[in-house]
Amino acid sequence: MSKLDAVLDHIDAHIDESLSRLEALVRFKSISTDPAYNDECRKAADWLAGELNGIGFTAEVRDTPGHPMVVAHDADQAEKTGPSVLFYGHYDVQPVDPVDLWNTDPFEPTIVERKGVKMMMGRGTSDDKGQLLTFVEACRAYKAVAGSLPLAVSFLFEGEEESGSPSLLPFLHANKDELSKDLALVCDTGMFDADTPSITTMLRGLVGEEIIITAADRDLHSGMYGGPAANPIRILSKILADLHDENGRVQIPDFYEGVQELTPEVKAQWDALPFDGKSFLGEVDLSIPAGETGYSVYEQINARPTCEFNGIMGGYTGDGFKTVIASKASAKVSCRLVGQQDPDKIRDNLRAFVEARVPADCTVTFEEHGAGPAHSLSPDFPPLAKGAQALKDEWNKDAILMGMGGSIPIVGEFKTILGMDSMLIGFALDEDNIHSPNEKYNLKSYHKGIRSWARVIASLADA
Ligand code: BES
Ligand code: ZN
Repeated sequence: MSKLDAVLDHIDAHIDESLSRLEALVRFKSISTDPAYNDECRKAADWLAGELNGIGFTAEVRDTPGHPMVVAHDADQAEKTGPSVLFYGHYDVQPVDPVDLWNTDPFEPTIVERKGVKMMMGRGTSDDKGQLLTFVEACRAYKAVAGSLPLAVSFLFEGEEESGSPSLLPFLHANKDELSKDLALVCDTGMFDADTPSITTMLRGLVGEEIIITAADRDLHSGMYGGPAANPIRILSKILADLHDENGRVQIPDFYEGVQELTPEVKAQWDALPFDGKSFLGEVDLSIPAGETGYSVYEQINARPTCEFNGIMGGYTGDGFKTVIASKASAKVSCRLVGQQDPDKIRDNLRAFVEARVPADCTVTFEEHGAGPAHSLSPDFPPLAKGAQALKDEWNKDAILMGMGGSIPIVGEFKTILGMDSMLIGFALDEDNIHSPNEKYNLKSYHKGIRSWARVIASLADA
């Protein structure tokens, strides 16, 4: 029996213990955005460091101005082949409200069976506690069976991903040498569907910006002042409307700089996917694609940049009616980025676009809400072939390279700060209800996820 087969058998034989450890991790109420749970975040970090120490890593909980990081390196000095890797995951979770919409206690992991599919219900089971443990459990099995890992493995777990990772950037700068490895591995993405293993080679970046326009020094009677008085809601709406043309193209200057078209191979692969834009929109009671013309719904989500308005405020929004000209209006805008789009440049150009359209006696101010470049990996990046082969061996189906509309801002920073590419392999499903009530992770995702990572580790080590 090969070493890998023995590792896979060990994983199967000990899956119940692996599940118990996931239950233990899910029980920590590590909601990063709410200070009431600071203690729970620290407990989750302590628990993770304890587990890693228990399987032969030198793990430390490192303080930051926010929630702590967990950093671990393999204590075993045996000769390694293949790339050195940094595995990244986040132990924090989203808030659970509205809690009355949950069918089980969000922090009491509960295994249920639905239509023959077993799953664990609970906040963070999928995003990202179950996913990050797939890699830990693969390392555990490897060490138990083979004595050592064939790759030099280090870990970085953070506790602020769900609240914008404010401590991560300074942490990466301060620990650059320690954390720079040949390759980052991340398990915080999903599969195309329940049977199709997937590597996310495109993940959109993000620029968050609030635009605040102020006109008169107070709210005014719209009969007395309407006409001559500049109306910030009108000014703001006009600017927002100008941000897209009739084809849905974003009008910020140089916005598309660094955006590449899909290669013919990837486009052909995507067109052949069993994804139907109509049913995708149908699920949320829509039918007409409203994005950039000339691109399929799948491309619009996964490979095109957007500029979306997430909130708009101003004037009288209470019950009834009030004839007022507000002194102030504001909008929360987020751009999702692809390719080599530069977040700082896009923010600057968005600000300039707005400033140029604000009348001389009005003012505009801006508030920054985070930024991160997109992640995009060439399909020729050598570790991808190894990862894809390992996934195919486990799932008996070709792995696809896919794009994903969401963002994991740190992945871009791994490249810019640590010079490290990331391979994103995840086992979550669209139906996992991440960020929503009744989050779950299928036991199959967990079990085959662990087995997949064991195979990926073996495949990367195979020179
Ligand atoms: N795990 C998600 C990213 C994700 C979303 C993966 C959908 C797979 C499918 C991640 O934790 C997340 O939610 N990121 C945020 C960004 C952040 C700055 C709040 C997002 O995409 O909005
Ligand atoms: Zn998330």
